[in-house]
Amino acid sequence: MADKQAKLDFGGNTFDFPVLEGATGPDVIDIRKLYGQTGAFTFDPGYKSTASCESALTYIDGNEGVLLHRGYPIGQLAEHSSFMETAYLLLNGELPQADELTDFNDTITRHTMLHDQLNKFYYGFRRDAHPMAIMCGVVGALSAFYHDSTDISDPEHRKISSHRLIAKMPTIAAMAYKYSIGQPFMQPDNSLSYTGNFLRMTFGVPAEPYEVIPAVERAMDRIFILHADHEQNASTSTVRLAGSSGANPFACMAAGIACLWGPAHGGANEAALNMLKEIGTPDRIPHYIERAKDKNDPFRLMGFGHRVYKNHDPRATVMQKTVREVFEALNVTDPVFETALQLEEMALNDDYFKEKKLFPNVDFYSGIILSAIGFPTTMFTALFALARTVGWVAQWNEMISDPAQVIGRPRQLYTGPTSRDYVPVNKR
Ligand code: SDX
Repeated sequence: MADKQAKLDFGGNTFDFPVLEGATGPDVIDIRKLYGQTGAFTFDPGYKSTASCESALTYIDGNEGVLLHRGYPIGQLAEHSSFMETAYLLLNGELPQADELTDFNDTITRHTMLHDQLNKFYYGFRRDAHPMAIMCGVVGALSAFYHDSTDISDPEHRKISSHRLIAKMPTIAAMAYKYSIGQPFMQPDNSLSYTGNFLRMTFGVPAEPYEVIPAVERAMDRIFILHADHEQNASTSTVRLAGSSGANPFACMAAGIACLWGPAHGGANEAALNMLKEIGTPDRIPHYIERAKDKNDPFRLMGFGHRVYKNHDPRATVMQKTVREVFEALNVTDPVFETALQLEEMALNDDYFKEKKLFPNVDFYSGIILSAIGFPTTMFTALFALARTVGWVAQWNEMISDPAQVIGRPRQLYTGPTSRDYVPVNKR
């Protein structure tokens, strides 16, 4: 019996519902028996007030701008950890010992190659296909190649599928890029780090050796850390809902990729850089800020605002710092960065954005870095999907191994016609 109860007066009766407390964050009112007791549903399109599950992976305090992965602040992980170590942490719950991390790295490294027949999937796409269209198709197709590990009730099958997905996403993403520019695919090089291998598969060519620039490798790895997991965001919730039916993990990740593609979600990094380029020079910023405030104009500041963060997005803070590091390492500048800095400054001093608590999110600066490293904007969301696969896989495992897990099946508020008899066409 929960110590705290919530009372509901409804239909002339009073109902008690248990209040559950987490390790931190808002309490939840357990309404699992609400329909059975009251005959009524709750109504929460967009799930703004609804907790869909219990999770121990990631915690966000939107008012304080806090993001924790298994309790560790994102700023500390970005500063001191690696993407592979963060992946291990999310999957296993604790930071690894040195030998555990070495074993994990080795395991992932040995799963980076694709089945040779998967290469042929790429040749079915147009060269100008969006990389996210390719990622949806190829990741979903993985389920056709791994019949040895699709029994999701078997923890060992779940483990190898998880490792395969994490390991193969860089290869799949790099191949999508190579295909789009007509260059030959690069095979993984097991002597490189996870991120160094990705950079070589993306920017290397068979005709000459590729030198990974340590500062770029570090920045890319940090960007992956920043995108690894983020509570029950739209794409993670999509993966959980797909997984709740017992669908295989490859199909579930393909569903997550599809959802992430949307410009309101992971597609915002591509949209944000396109917006900054459209704005061009800082003198044009006020016009776009006014457009963003105009209710009759569908334009929004891409890379601004967040469902949960009503203070700064801690990932954006790290991302802005990383822009400067990459520019210095590559000895480049980009006038778009200056425009972004001035746009942030002006928006954060504008009453509309202050009142609605709209701050730059993870997508606002990421495109500037990715562009400086050499990625086309069309690859930005594919890189987000690459990194978020770690979170999707960890969340999927958490859900499948939860003994209370049931298929997700929301109800609705029906507003259509009530029952009526069929009318033959000659009588309508
Ligand atoms: C990601 O959920 C996650 O954790 C996602 C993510 C992750 O790691 O998985 O963090 C990644 O998706 C980041 C968000 C990327 N998307 C964008 O940058 C697109 C632009 N942002 C918006 O579309 C919007 O802010 C959302 C979608 C991010 C959040 O939308 P909400 O929570 O549904 O908020 P809302 O649309 O109800 O907006 C509240 C108000 C509205 O005004 P009113 O109707 O109350 O008058 O703020 C306004 C909105 O019009 N508003 C904006 C705005 N974002 C919200 N106005 C101008 N520009 C914006 N960017």
